[in-house]
Amino acid sequence: MKEYVNNEIMRNRKTIKEDWRELRQIQTDRQLNLERPVMFKQPKEGSKITQLQKEFPNIKQKTLTECIKHRRSLRFYKDQKLTLEEMTYLLWETSRVDAFKPGVTFRTIPTAGATNSMETYVYLTKVEGIDRGLYHYIQDKHQLELLSDSDELEEKVDQALYGQLRGAAVVFFFTATPYRTEYKYAHLSHKMIAMEAGHAGQNVSLAAEVIDCGAVMMAAYIQAYCDELIGIGDDEFVTYVAAVGKKQA
Ligand SMILES: Cc1cc2nc3c(=O)[nH]c(=O)nc-3n(C[C@H](O)[C@H](O)[C@H](O)COP(=O)(O)O)c2cc1C
Repeated sequence: MKEYVNNEIMRNRKTIKEDWRELRQIQTDRQLNLERPVMFKQPKEGSKITQLQKEFPNIKQKTLTECIKHRRSLRFYKDQKLTLEEMTYLLWETSRVDAFKPGVTFRTIPTAGATNSMETYVYLTKVEGIDRGLYHYIQDKHQLELLSDSDELEEKVDQALYGQLRGAAVVFFFTATPYRTEYKYAHLSHKMIAMEAGHAGQNVSLAAEVIDCGAVMMAAYIQAYCDELIGIGDDEFVTYVAAVGKKQA
C-alpha cells in the first residue's frame, strides 16, 4: 500500500469508506429520542416572498437520452436572460419536495433515509420577470425568499466562486444541514450528504439541457465567502455550486 506522509488524507478517506456495522454500536440521537431537527428552513418574518409556478406550458421537453448525450460542463454563455418559467423549471426539477411527513421527505432526488439534508439558494442575475438578487428556495412551498438585492452581489458572488461566475445567468448554491442526517445516521452521514448534493447537481445539469442551457458544477469555491454571502456557516454550509446559462449556439 502507498505510504502517506500526510495522515489527513487517510483520515479524510474514512468519510467515504465507512463501516455500516458501526451504526449498531452507537445510539443515534434519534434512538435517544432527542428533539427531531427541523425538516425545512423557513423564511424570516417579513421577507419578500415570490410564489413560483408549478406548470411549464412553454417548455419544450427533450428526451432523457438527448439531455444526457448533450450534457457537458459549460463555462461560457450567450448573453441572454432566462425566462422566469425556465428558471423555475430548474428549481422544480432539482429541489422541489413532492411529499413529506414527520422526519421523512420525498424529493425529485433521493436523500439518505429520506432525511433531506439539503437547502437550495439561487443567485439570479439574468432572469426576466424577477429582480436580480440572492434568494432562498422554500422547498416545501415552492417559493423564493429574497435574501439580498445589494448592488455588490455580482462582485461578491464572483469572489465567493473564486472568479468562476463567468457571466452565468443563474447560480445554484446547494447547502447541507448535516444534523438532519446525523440525527439518524450519526458519523456515517457525511458521505451521504455529499452524494445528495451530487444528485442535485445532476438534476440541474440535465434540466438545464431541456431549456437550451448548460451548467457547470463547482467545488472549487471559497467556503467562507459562500457561507457568508448566504448568512450561514456552522450548522449549515455550502456543499456544491452550479452555474447555469444559455448555450452560445
Ligand atoms: C465534484 C465536481 C467539482 C467540480 N468543480 C469544478 C469547478 O470548481 N470549476 C469548474 O470549472 N469545473 C468543475 N467541475 C467540472 C469538471 O471539471 C467537469 O465535469 C470535467 O472536466 C468533465 O467535463 P464534462 O462535465 O464536460 O463532462 C467539477 C465537477 C465535479 C463533478
